[in-house]
Amino acid sequence: MSQKQDQWTSKLGFILAAAGSAIGLGAIWKLPYVAGTSGGGAFFLIFLLFTIFLGLPLLLTEFTIGRKTQHEAVTAYRMLAPGTFWHWIGKLGVATSFFLLSFYSVVGGWIVVYFARSITEGIGGRGAEEFEQLFGQTISSPVLAISAHLIFMLMTILVVQGGVQKGIERVSKLMMPALFILFIIIVIRSVTLPGAMEGVEFFLLPDFSSVTGQTVLYALGQAFFSLSLGVSIMVTYSSYLKSNESLPRSAVSIVGLTIFISILAGLAIFPAVFSFGLEPAEGPPLIFIVLPTVFSEIPLGGVFFVAFMALLLFATLTSAFSLLEMVVASVTKNDPAKRKKAAWACGLLIFVMGIPSALSYGIMDDVLIFGMTFFDALDYLVSNIMLPLGALLIAIFAPLKIKKDDLYEEMQKGSAFKRSLFNLWYVLVKFVVPIAIVLAFLNTIIRGGV
Ligand code: PFF
Repeated sequence: MSQKQDQWTSKLGFILAAAGSAIGLGAIWKLPYVAGTSGGGAFFLIFLLFTIFLGLPLLLTEFTIGRKTQHEAVTAYRMLAPGTFWHWIGKLGVATSFFLLSFYSVVGGWIVVYFARSITEGIGGRGAEEFEQLFGQTISSPVLAISAHLIFMLMTILVVQGGVQKGIERVSKLMMPALFILFIIIVIRSVTLPGAMEGVEFFLLPDFSSVTGQTVLYALGQAFFSLSLGVSIMVTYSSYLKSNESLPRSAVSIVGLTIFISILAGLAIFPAVFSFGLEPAEGPPLIFIVLPTVFSEIPLGGVFFVAFMALLLFATLTSAFSLLEMVVASVTKNDPAKRKKAAWACGLLIFVMGIPSALSYGIMDDVLIFGMTFFDALDYLVSNIMLPLGALLIAIFAPLKIKKDDLYEEMQKGSAFKRSLFNLWYVLVKFVVPIAIVLAFLNTIIRGGV
C-alpha cells in the first residue's frame, strides 16, 4: 500500500493524458457513424445534454475518488469501503477495458493500414466509390486485419510497459494541438463542398421523429464512451495527480475539448457525406470512406492525409494506453517490478480476444449474435450495457461511501470551488445520473430489446 506512485509532472500533463484517453475513436469514428445510423442532429443533441449533465459530474466524481485515495481503481474502492463488495466496480472496469480494447485495437489496426497506405500509395485520383472498395478489401482480408490489430496492440504494450506518464505527457503536448488544427482545415473544406449544407443540417438540426428508446441509450453510451467514463480509468489516472491541481477545472477542460472535437468531427464528415452522395448510415466504415475523399478535394491533400492519419493514430493510441493501463495497474497494484510482464501478458490476451472482431467484416461476417456481428455485439455490450452500468454504480457509490465534506474538501484543493456548484454536482450525481441511467435502460427494454 505504501508503493511510491509515479506522478504526472505537470497539470498540463494530466489534462493531456486524460484528454488523450477521452479523445479518440469515440468522437472521431464512433460518433459520426452512430449519429448517422441514429437520426443525426437529434442524436447529437441528446448526446451533448448527456455529456454536460451526466458526463461532467461523473468525470469529477471519478477524479475525486482517484486523487483522494491516490491508488488505482480496485484498491481505491477497497480503501473507501473496506470489507464490502464495492471494489467490484473496479473489477467491472478492468473487464470492460479488456473487452473494449479488444475491438478498439481492431479499428486502431485499420488506421495503421490507412496510415501506411497514405504514405506508400497516396490518395490521388480516387473517388468515394473506390475508397469504399479499398476499405472493404482492407477489413475483409483476415491476414491484413489481424496483423494490423497485432501491430496496434504491440505499440500500446510498448508504451504501457514503461509507464504511461513518461510516454504520454511529452508527445501529447505537440500532437493534440496539431490534431485540432488539421481538423479545422478539413471542416473548412468539407462545409464548402457543393451541397454541403444538407449535411450541416442533418448534423445540427434535430429531427425528433427519428428518436427511439434505442437512440437515447446509444446517446448515453456514446457520452460515456467519449469521456472514458464508467470504467474507472479516470480514477486510476487521477490517482497519479498531485494535490495542488483543481479537479473541477480539469474536468471542465476535458469535457470542453471532447465536445469541441465531436463537433469538428461531425462537421468534417456529414457535409462531405451528402456532397459526395454517400449514405450517412454506412456504419463503422464511414470515416474511412469519407475522409480520404475529402482530402482528395484539398490541394496537397495527400500530404495532409498522411499527417491526419498519423494524428488519428496517435489519438487512438492515447486512448488505448489508458485502457491497457487500467488493466495493468490493477493486476500489478502499481508494483513497478511486475509492470512489464503484466503489460505483455494482458496485452497479448487482449489481442487474442480481439481476433473474432478483426474477422467480423471478413470470414466471420455471417456469425451473428443477437443479429449482430461479433464486433458489433461486443461494442453493444460494452458501450450500451457495461459503461452505463459502471457509471451507475460509481454515481451510487460516491455519495454513499464518502462523506459530503470530504468530497468537497478534495474538490477545493488547488483552487476554490463554490459551495453552490458543489451542491449542484452533488444533486446531479446522487439523483439525476442514476435516475437517467435507469430510465434509459428501462426505456430500451420496454420500447424494444437489443
Ligand atoms: N474515450 C475513448 C474514445 O472516445 O475513443 C474510448 C475509451 C477509452 C472509452 C477508455 C472508455 C475508456 F475507459
